[in-house]
Amino acid sequence: MASAQIAWSQRQKKLDYIGDITREELSKHNKVEDCWVSFQGFVYNMSSYLEMHPGGVERIMNCAGGDMTEDYMNRHRWVSPNLFEKLKIGKLVN
Ligand code: HEM
Repeated sequence: MASAQIAWSQRQKKLDYIGDITREELSKHNKVEDCWVSFQGFVYNMSSYLEMHPGGVERIMNCAGGDMTEDYMNRHRWVSPNLFEKLKIGKLVN
């Protein structure tokens, strides 16, 4: 994986963990500056990563407020989720 990606993840501050997050709450956070996505049952605030994404801002924004798991896995299942672990803010609940 590109070293710029690893450097970014080392620089990134760990975000505060909120706890349980409903799908309804998740869906409200669908803007570039407030971009939440779920991935494999957890919720991440992707805003600080968007500009770093080699595949572009739009690809992640397509999933903003919703689930990213399928798109992510279809495109690059080999990219380690450790890269964005610090962006984890909660667990997805119904
Ligand atoms: C947390 C979210 C994501 C992270 C951390 C991430 C990370 C990465 C990384 C490290 C790469 C470069 C390595 C590679 O191509 O194998 C990449 C490329 C790419 N990603 Fe993502 N990705 C995320 C979400 C997504 C989503 C939801 C899509 C939607 C399809 C996507 C589409 C792409 C595409 C198309 C490329 C290739 C860009 C190119 O080679 O020009 N990514 N992503």
